[in-house]
Amino acid sequence: MTDNLLTLDSLGRDGIRRTLDMAFHIKKVGGMTRNAIPGGRIGLIFDKPSTRTRVSFEAAAWGLGMLPMTLRGDELQMGSSESVADTARVLSRYLSALVIRTFKQSLVEELARYATIPVINALTDDHHPCQALADVMTLEEEFKELAGLRVAFVGDGNNVCHSLIQAAGHLGFTLAISTPPGYEPNPEIVAAAGASCRVNGGGIELGHDPKAAVRGADAVYTDIWASMGQEKEREERARIFAGYCVDADLMAQAAPRAIFLHCLPAHRGSEVTDEVMDGPQSRVWDEAENRWYTEQALLYMLITGDERGERLG
Ligand code: CP
Ligand code: NVA
Repeated sequence: MTDNLLTLDSLGRDGIRRTLDMAFHIKKVGGMTRNAIPGGRIGLIFDKPSTRTRVSFEAAAWGLGMLPMTLRGDELQMGSSESVADTARVLSRYLSALVIRTFKQSLVEELARYATIPVINALTDDHHPCQALADVMTLEEEFKELAGLRVAFVGDGNNVCHSLIQAAGHLGFTLAISTPPGYEPNPEIVAAAGASCRVNGGGIELGHDPKAAVRGADAVYTDIWASMGQEKEREERARIFAGYCVDADLMAQAAPRAIFLHCLPAHRGSEVTDEVMDGPQSRVWDEAENRWYTEQALLYMLITGDERGERLG
């Protein structure tokens, strides 16, 4: 059992399974597990903006009976007049867990190396494991079984895509990824997940034709074309990604039962049309809601080490 969530691989197949089981339980009992960790305290550091992650983690902390403390990275001295290691050592004396959204994956890993409390990656340029947990919860809620599903990811081979790739590797579904040439996901992450798929089932497919990826898919996933930190590339990317919009025509290539997923925030009219976002196949609001349950499960498991959820009521 891991102490940290640095990438989805930190949890592994069993850890993901236990988190999902706990999250479903928390959802069933109405999202409230008020006395699970009374007196706990979590720190949330945000070097990038956030709506869902910040609010769902604060709500999750409150749901478990803990105090959440949200800090902007530039309110701390970390990286300017204090080392990352010393910040990790000090914060470990006050807190039960540390959640961080930042640019470099290496910063989250450095914090985790020196912290004596769980460190949770709330998005870096390379990974978004908390999102992937809510995504697979939403898929399982819809289809009951993850193994054997075909999920299409259309757009940029980015942080969200990387965490979904790792999810596919552990949970045995097929992820068919379609990006413009030059925007493919990290080949090392693809290769590692491909090897896991050979054991667990499913597979990772790469291509450049969105229709080919979506054909027969049970779910179609997309994300913004220019992620946080890539704002200067927005116009150039809008040109390059123009053929990668998830619209009703593209959704029509998917299986009749297919659902649409998006981590949000969505840029309506770019990577997805209003018709798809607001249409009957869209599950994006459930997906966002499921962040609250998966994060509660994650915090509980990492802080208490109890994999069975005995204090969850
Ligand atoms: N999906 C997600 O992480 O949203 P926020 O950027 O609003 O946290
Ligand atoms: N890829 C997006 C995800 C936002 C939740 C970004 O990093 O901005």
